[in-house]
Amino acid sequence: MTLSEEDLVRYKASLATLESPATLENIQDKLFCQDVFTALPNVPDQSIDLLFADPPYNLTKSFNDRKFKKVSTDDYAVWLDSWLSLTVRLLKPSASVYICGDWRSSAAIQRVGEKYFISQNRITWEREKGRGAKSNWKNCSEDIWFFTVSENYYFNVDAVMLKRQVIAPYIDRNGEPKDWSETENGRFRVTHPSNLWTDLTVPYWSMPENTDHPTQKPEKLLAKIILASSREGDLVFDPFNGSGTTTVVAKKLGRRYLGVEIDENYCCFAQKRLELASTDRSIQGYVDGVFWERNSKNISRKAAKTKA
Ligand SMILES: C[S@@+](CC[C@H](N)C(=O)[O-])C[C@H]1O[C@@H](n2cnc3c(N)ncnc32)[C@H](O)[C@@H]1O
Repeated sequence: MTLSEEDLVRYKASLATLESPATLENIQDKLFCQDVFTALPNVPDQSIDLLFADPPYNLTKSFNDRKFKKVSTDDYAVWLDSWLSLTVRLLKPSASVYICGDWRSSAAIQRVGEKYFISQNRITWEREKGRGAKSNWKNCSEDIWFFTVSENYYFNVDAVMLKRQVIAPYIDRNGEPKDWSETENGRFRVTHPSNLWTDLTVPYWSMPENTDHPTQKPEKLLAKIILASSREGDLVFDPFNGSGTTTVVAKKLGRRYLGVEIDENYCCFAQKRLELASTDRSIQGYVDGVFWERNSKNISRKAAKTKA
């Protein structure tokens, strides 16, 4: 996806900021283009059901004209604390909080997260891309810490089942399939999702969701988190919204959204994606209410084609 000159003019004109304490109605289904530190104080108390934060990691990286510099783990923890502490007031007692990081940022995320919340899990997902290194292991995984405000939280495992192709089709004593089913397109098993996610693809040039944001998350990743940890109509908040993935997936799945992002260009991408989500609710890799293992939807399509 690209932005034409005309897109930029149109979307820039529509960008807003949150300048004073707001009501719930003022922040629902909204995207604000500003520094998170100026937005957070204006979000109403206990308004958020799900917080998904994908902040700059503890790496030296540029986001258009803003550069984030790698610092010590202690200094990164101080920075995390400076904004995470401001989110506590905004969360409902039943809210869930997910925070993304790479291996270097992960320890600080756990430390600061546990200052305010109860840690429930750490998801590790396989990030296919990643440069090889001459004197170290190639980095191709990332973490997402899952916290909750209390032990009274919502989690819908049935909404995030994984559909896998069956390699070894066990049968029971009566000759019946064990935990799998024969379909006209092949043999599949629907399994519970674990905290190791290997079915994701980082957006690349031919995927409709792809933008030029350097660290865009896959829509499929957000779909898992939003479906598991929110109900339809809940308010999902992303304070580092980037190209808009969280807000777009929340919209596609019938949740309300709030996004904050400091960079105008990324906000324009988010606006364009939100506009497209009004007519196209599809999420690559999530079909018929289940998450398909990477490539298995293709296998099923191929099988269907061969039979036709
Ligand atoms: C890791 S990226 C998020 C990517 C996003 N999840 C997506 O799928 O596109 C972090 C984002 O935080 C934004 N950012 C950094 N500092 C910020 C601040 N103080 N306030 C708001 N946004 C900020 C950056 O511009 C960047 O787009």
